[in-house]
Amino acid sequence: MSNLTFIETQFPVSKLSKESYKERKANNSQTLTGLGKWWGRKPLVLIRAAILGLLLPASDDPKKDREIFLKLLTMDEEGLWRRRRGNIPASDVYQSATETEREYYLNRKDNKWQWKKSATKEDREHIQRRAFNRMSYDEKLSYCMRPEEIDGPSEEAWKEINAHLVTNVKSLQELVQELGKRRFGHNPRVGDAFCGGGSVPFEAAVLGCDVYGADLSPVSALLTWAAINLIGGGEKVIREIQDIQKKVYEAVKKQIDEWGIERNDEGWTDEETRKILGKGWNADYYLYCVEVVDPQTGWRVPLVPAWIIGGKTRTIARLVPDKKTKSFKIEIIQGASPEEMEKAKLEGTWADGIRCPVDKDGNWIEPHSRQATPIEELRGRQGLRLWENEDIVPRPDDILQERLYCIRWVDPETGEKYYRVPTKEDIGREAHALELLKEHFTEWQEKGYIPSRLIQPGDKTDEPIRTRGWTHWHHLYNPRQLLTIGLFQKIGLSIKCGKTSIIGLFLGIGRLANWNSRLCIWDPSSANEKGASTYINQALNTLYNYVLRGHSALETTWFYDIHKSIISTPSLIMPLDARITDFIADLWITDPPYADAINYEELSELFLAWYEKRLPPLFPDWYADSKRALAVKGSEENFRLSMVECYRRLAENMPENGFQLVMFTHQDVEVWSDLALILWAAGLHVTAAWTIATETETGYKTGKYVKGTSNLVLRKRKGDLRGDRADIYPEVLAEVQRQLKTMIEIDDKDDPNFTDADYQLAAYAAALRVVTAYSAIEDIDVERELRRVRKSGESSPLADLIRSAVKIASDFLIPEGLDRSIWRYLNPEERFYLKGVEVEVHGEYRDGVYQEFARGFGVKDYRGLLGSDAANRTRLKTPTELKGRDLSGQGFAGTLLRQVLFAVYKTVEEENPKPGLMYLRQELSNYWDQRKTILAILDYLSKKPSAMDHWQKDADAAHLLCGAISEDGV
Ligand SMILES: C[S@@+](CC[C@H](N)C(=O)[O-])C[C@H]1O[C@@H](n2cnc3c(N)ncnc32)[C@H](O)[C@@H]1O
Repeated sequence: MSNLTFIETQFPVSKLSKESYKERKANNSQTLTGLGKWWGRKPLVLIRAAILGLLLPASDDPKKDREIFLKLLTMDEEGLWRRRRGNIPASDVYQSATETEREYYLNRKDNKWQWKKSATKEDREHIQRRAFNRMSYDEKLSYCMRPEEIDGPSEEAWKEINAHLVTNVKSLQELVQELGKRRFGHNPRVGDAFCGGGSVPFEAAVLGCDVYGADLSPVSALLTWAAINLIGGGEKVIREIQDIQKKVYEAVKKQIDEWGIERNDEGWTDEETRKILGKGWNADYYLYCVEVVDPQTGWRVPLVPAWIIGGKTRTIARLVPDKKTKSFKIEIIQGASPEEMEKAKLEGTWADGIRCPVDKDGNWIEPHSRQATPIEELRGRQGLRLWENEDIVPRPDDILQERLYCIRWVDPETGEKYYRVPTKEDIGREAHALELLKEHFTEWQEKGYIPSRLIQPGDKTDEPIRTRGWTHWHHLYNPRQLLTIGLFQKIGLSIKCGKTSIIGLFLGIGRLANWNSRLCIWDPSSANEKGASTYINQALNTLYNYVLRGHSALETTWFYDIHKSIISTPSLIMPLDARITDFIADLWITDPPYADAINYEELSELFLAWYEKRLPPLFPDWYADSKRALAVKGSEENFRLSMVECYRRLAENMPENGFQLVMFTHQDVEVWSDLALILWAAGLHVTAAWTIATETETGYKTGKYVKGTSNLVLRKRKGDLRGDRADIYPEVLAEVQRQLKTMIEIDDKDDPNFTDADYQLAAYAAALRVVTAYSAIEDIDVERELRRVRKSGESSPLADLIRSAVKIASDFLIPEGLDRSIWRYLNPEERFYLKGVEVEVHGEYRDGVYQEFARGFGVKDYRGLLGSDAANRTRLKTPTELKGRDLSGQGFAGTLLRQVLFAVYKTVEEENPKPGLMYLRQELSNYWDQRKTILAILDYLSKKPSAMDHWQKDADAAHLLCGAISEDGV
């Protein structure tokens, strides 16, 4: 038996991609997302598979290895069945049942499929199981929970697992310990020095490993600590936190009620209830907008892009000009007509500038005739006044004012919701909230209940300063928001409880800060009519209109679904720069900030502003600032050098037989080769690479795209192998071919595990496996390459080597349905087109894949062949779209395939294959010699793309033409 691990020989990429997607789609009910915002959390199922894949040995029986691996992940037939949520509805069983099963067990009643009365419980179970087994993996998953939601493999499965692995264990934790002992002599130690939202340390701890998690950001360290101690704390801890959360929530409500700032005098038909609940309706949402004096007209204009407030309740706002004050009154209409809704959409007062709805004299102007005044005109050369600490609302002479224009009220008796314009009393309550905040402001800032930190300028943090003059983090919150969140802090702190519960409450403050700021969008769509969070994208976008949540609308933000796991292994979590890590891990699993362009350090400062004074007493050894200067980011030479420092450190901090798994999301060869250079320089040797689709679904029609996470498996480089590129090339060639051959052999024809992109990637990985085994390649100076400032478009020698691997792969990957003898004689452009058709049939629309194939085949310019070149909608033109353009000349124009495609187009146009046939006969001097190739191409085009709607008529025409040519001259 070799000492290779499972993941170094194979990985179920397709099934894992589906599982990862399922986990992603669970949105806020994913295990860790409820704890608080972090960007780019990795799916737990992927981490679980990675850890097991690194610990599991590869035997001489790859098929059995795979079976066992899938059993461990409950991704085998039986595991999936164990994971199902409940019974499969009779109508779904019907879809997958055989004729006999249908006849015996099912009948149709009231237009629905039902079980026959005669079907016993056992029959039903049995038939459901059989129907389930016949479903595709995706269909099965739709009935299943996630692997983490059940208790691992069944007893039966453990028997098989134990027999294969020669173990005697009953749980994943016991297995992990056993395999760790075998390989490393102790329980495996798993570390992540860029732990972000905590996926790696958390899942590793769930599997029973000893864990280390660190990140430059203390916010991330806090989230990771909470993942392990709070979610991993089990039932008792969670119950305590939930009780305390409830107490705080109720106490805040009581105080707000006493202040009387969120209730009006409306409603109440029933005197008894009024007595119990107090008076009036509760406000759950407040809508604000910026208001400015338009320099063109002198009118005061509230700025909102569209005056639709609710799509479902058909609520709109309408502006009524008041010539006396040169300002607008606002009317709110609930239950507007479709015409009124349409008008409200167009009447927006903000679109690339201020669009005042009236002229100087107050005469109404139709929307399409309104001129836009750029906001820069108001800001002037010197920009806006910069706010001081005490400014919590705009000063009266500030250019940008703020206006409350709508309140949504809830009648507590009926639950009915009403949108209303603020009344005089409401404005009074606003003033009261402001007064209350002013009373507490200094004390609360000192105690850290509300932020007092300055916003440091930066790529992302410049925007609030530049566009609003906000200089402190608390300026991103309006008085009512500061008052409410401050109150949550104050009351939370007054409750005596253990550290984990304090942190549970503390993270709640982070969630309130994310869901209740001046940067929260009001979503009027009919499905929603609710507020969004501050970080709907990776920026600090200031808004012209925003939403504020009243206490009752904070309920879903404050409380969250706490999943529970029991974690009992040791963990060490802290904020730390990865370069100075001193933990020794057997497995380093990291997802570095690699070319992902997310400014973690700046974005997380919003949370740190809230945590500033409260974090140090909880974690005296931690720092509480973002350490921006140490953040690893970018893609240039400094970034490369910092990454080498980090990875060298991690490589030093692992035993000789340890592993690293590095995750990143880029497919581009340059990015790949840079990372390879970094890892190579850090003394690591790539042994495998697998890409898992971790984001949304792919599809030309939906326009959504897959973001793959590439997982590089690495060991410490041993020995001192030296060579030069000329020696290495044949090795790369052999390794790429070997790799692709193995993948093709182990792939499942009915449910393919690998796509074209996976083969491409495997080619990169194979090249890297060869290259990084060398400690030096004479004509590649690693240090120089790392430091070299590259000109745009300039490539590195390592990138060239990787590219040569893709070329080998491209030659190797003949489209299915084309004979090797035909393929061999096609020129690069022809290969590119025919391969592109296959790629598209496989549902691949990423631009990068086409780019790589073009490079691999050596095609310089393929843009003219594309029907769409949008980033994730790339596809080729069909013959009908190519029409009669470019039929002679260089490149594609001069090829046989081009002539054939034109003949197909002619066949479509004339609805007859004759003209196409005649064309080929006349134009091709060696028509008879080429006939075999023409027929092969037409046969391919008639079959391969025929399943795609936009190819239908061309594929039919290719079929007709193929028939005509094969009969020609017979
Ligand atoms: C892609 S994220 C990791 C996400 C994580 N794997 C998860 O599942 O949530 C990269 C992380 O690297 C961190 N980082 C950036 N520079 C760092 C440094 N010098 N040392 C340690 N961590 C750093 C960022 O704060 C960020 O959390």
